[in-house]
Amino acid sequence: MTEPAPIAVALDAPDLETAARWASLVTPHVSTVKVGLELYLRYGPDVIASVRGANRVQVFLDLKLHDIPATVAGATRAVARLRPAFLTVHAAGGQAMIRAAVDAAPHTSIAAVTVLTSLKDTDLDAVGLAGPASHAVRRLAALAVDDGDQAVVCSPQEAAAVRAEVGQDITLITPGVRPEGVAAMDQARVATPEDALAAGADLLVIGRPITGVADPGAAAARIAAALRRTSGHRR
Ligand code: C5P
Repeated sequence: MTEPAPIAVALDAPDLETAARWASLVTPHVSTVKVGLELYLRYGPDVIASVRGANRVQVFLDLKLHDIPATVAGATRAVARLRPAFLTVHAAGGQAMIRAAVDAAPHTSIAAVTVLTSLKDTDLDAVGLAGPASHAVRRLAALAVDDGDQAVVCSPQEAAAVRAEVGQDITLITPGVRPEGVAAMDQARVATPEDALAAGADLLVIGRPITGVADPGAAAARIAAALRRTSGHRR
């Protein structure tokens, strides 16, 4: 039995049945499934048991919380009982907010989202964050880790710089992953799974390249096998 690959499959499905089906198809090959806002807001906490299935794959709850510390603490407590392996908050919410989340969920890794991988430098300019995305990412990663955060979400293109900033003990999670030949879609700062891993990512978030094809199980198995070959080479 081979180890599941360090991939979190984004279950961005329109309904619970589809999400549960995708989860059961990919679970033999990947370590984690990711539940995002669409599914969670439509179905609530029950969605977690549905996608976790009998074999208890890790659940990544991607709610990207961003509010005042007391509200984020309350929201984090509300979902901590579901025991997600990861829960996301926006690093831009600041240190007190991140600390509130960390304290509210002792059995969950709080993952700080730095800059969404869909944003380009010009988009950041438009929201008043001057300078290249990579600067904002490093600054936000350093701030998050300073406040007890255990995981950081960034694009694979910044993974090496963030790793240098935060050290080896932090879990680096990278969306914006596109296998060779697959369209970027709305992602702007992308890399292949092999390159993301080589840049220092610990967990790759992959959605539509797996869930958008006819056979999500086969797509997950193919990417997992490619990653095993890469990490074999690096050893
Ligand atoms: O389909 P795709 O591979 O683009 O899915 C990427 C997933 O990662 C989506 O669920 C998206 O919400 C999430 N994500 C992201 N950028 C971040 C954090 C999470 O794309 N910075």
